[in-house]
Amino acid sequence: MNPLRIFWLSSAAAMAFTLAACGSKPVVEPPLVELSPAEATAMAMKLWRDDDLTRHPKGSCSGCHGADFFDLARNGATNVDLERRARIDGASAQEAKALIQAIGQMRLQYQIPVTNARAFRPFQPSGAQILPDLTDAPHIAAVKRDIAFAQNLEPLLPTLYGAPIDSLEKAKKARDELLDLVKGSNLAGANPQMLNLRKLPTGVLYPLWSADLHHSPAEGTFNDWIADIAHDAKPARKAEWHALQNTYLENPNNQTFWKMYVAAKDMTQVPLLGACTADGINPQLACGAMDDFNRHKFLSALIGQHMMRLETLGRLEEFFADGIAFTYLETDPSFAFTQTRGNTEFLPANPWEIGDMGRTMLESTQATGSFRDNLRKLGYPEFALNSIDAARAAGTEEQALRLTWFWIGFTFDPSFARISGSNATKVAEYMVGSLIEERMFNHNAFMTLIRLASKGTLPEANVKIINKQVIYQPIKFIMNFSYFIGYGRAILSNTWNESKNLKFPTDLKTESTNLYSRLTGNGFRMATYLQIESLEKDSYSTADLTSIRGWLSDSNNNGTIKYGTIHTIQEHFTAYHSSTATADTALLELLKTKSGAVTY
Ligand code: HEC
Repeated sequence: MNPLRIFWLSSAAAMAFTLAACGSKPVVEPPLVELSPAEATAMAMKLWRDDDLTRHPKGSCSGCHGADFFDLARNGATNVDLERRARIDGASAQEAKALIQAIGQMRLQYQIPVTNARAFRPFQPSGAQILPDLTDAPHIAAVKRDIAFAQNLEPLLPTLYGAPIDSLEKAKKARDELLDLVKGSNLAGANPQMLNLRKLPTGVLYPLWSADLHHSPAEGTFNDWIADIAHDAKPARKAEWHALQNTYLENPNNQTFWKMYVAAKDMTQVPLLGACTADGINPQLACGAMDDFNRHKFLSALIGQHMMRLETLGRLEEFFADGIAFTYLETDPSFAFTQTRGNTEFLPANPWEIGDMGRTMLESTQATGSFRDNLRKLGYPEFALNSIDAARAAGTEEQALRLTWFWIGFTFDPSFARISGSNATKVAEYMVGSLIEERMFNHNAFMTLIRLASKGTLPEANVKIINKQVIYQPIKFIMNFSYFIGYGRAILSNTWNESKNLKFPTDLKTESTNLYSRLTGNGFRMATYLQIESLEKDSYSTADLTSIRGWLSDSNNNGTIKYGTIHTIQEHFTAYHSSTATADTALLELLKTKSGAVTY
């Protein structure tokens, strides 16, 4: 029998006359033929990489999704959606059919589980947000999840949640319990399941792989994994780029992945963005951040696709290293080629940057009004604007991007030391802000204590790159609680920030505050003991000492006093820990003496 036998006649007839992707001229599509498995894959891959803008006005599928269509196989895209989106993006009926067939084959080959694309949030720890089925208003649900998060943490951090920490030994135990959650180890004995931050359930909802406005207004957002603007090969580099993709697809591992990743910078370009005017509002900042946002989104899609692939093969953890992700790029000589990626003091942290560059891009358009209008001001093409729910506010989008991508970024580098040179990032300033905005105070305290413990302990969080060499710096503990305690925030009654339209029931506030003050109080004690020890045993330059004193001291500027860390911690103790007042005050006094800090 003729292998090119015609089938699907009825739909072929129905599609005989369709509109070409870019114009209105009716074209006659040839009848559909049945394809062998190899033919289907070959045709699907040819479509996937076709970056001819006359056929595919948004660029190639690969320019937004990744090297192949593994993501669509994994996320459970239905045949109807595959057909719909492929056709929208310029595929012929035959190509769409080939793609559907190739994806079906891939699902069988990798034994990919059946998934609902509308709920598929890859890498969400334990597979679901904490308390996924709450029906409360979002602000109440966030607080309930935050409380449940803390309750889950209690057995994992028994020292921090236990009796008041009253010795250096207990402080170290508390720190080691935190570090076990960073490293996925059980050295301190409270983490028998060897959870790490990528496995620890959280109240933060991870992004869908694909959020498509077609399905609901809630999906009209950039807050998903697939890039919104294509990065296609520069014409002169196309052959090399495809060769790197092929090598990766033939043997997907960290070597082949990072080769493709680092080459993306030189080999791809963004052909489709209009002129960024930012409508006269800080265009320099906004337009720069927009370019960065799109690049980070594309690179995150590559990372996400690689993670999915490794996860399906049962090899996800090989992508990370314990502690801070990807440090093998600097310690394993076989990854020396990744040195071309720029300032190697920083490790790939594209997911974090989606949150941070999304913030900069939107704040620079003042993040008021609709998200669509903001994108128009930035010069995004119509197809990108049309993928956004017209009613979505820019501020809503900004907070959604920040909350979710900051948390993912945190699980990559819990020390915040290797993400970027931004001082705000190093102290997680905007992540603190996003968690407080949701009243997720317990997540915030946990994140902050993990940051201090990681930065104060992990060698890889304390490096300088000098002449392309990684130089490990002496590690000193520094209790820079920074924005976590700024503006009186360590007292929650200052921070619920209720209004007529935003109220929280008293019992929830009480429960949240109890858990928060237990963790935070002991976190302050832990940090104080560790800081005192470090001041005693490590050698501090005058500059180091001055900077620590700066954190801890109050400053008196002509009678206007700005309160520092010691004062703020004392306030927290006074508010929540009156029964240990004597010991707590004595501990802070000792810190004052050892550091030379001044309080008023
Ligand atoms: C300019 C970037 C871009 C290009 C080019 C692109 N896509 Fe997508 N695709 C996306 C984004 C972003 C989403 C997520 C949904 C959304 O934002 O509309 C998506 C979602 C999808 C989905 C899932 C839709 C759903 O129901 O969740 C399918 C299927 C898909 N794309 C197929 C393709 C195919 C096939 C091509 C090439 C012919 C292609 N895409 C080209 C960006 C792109």
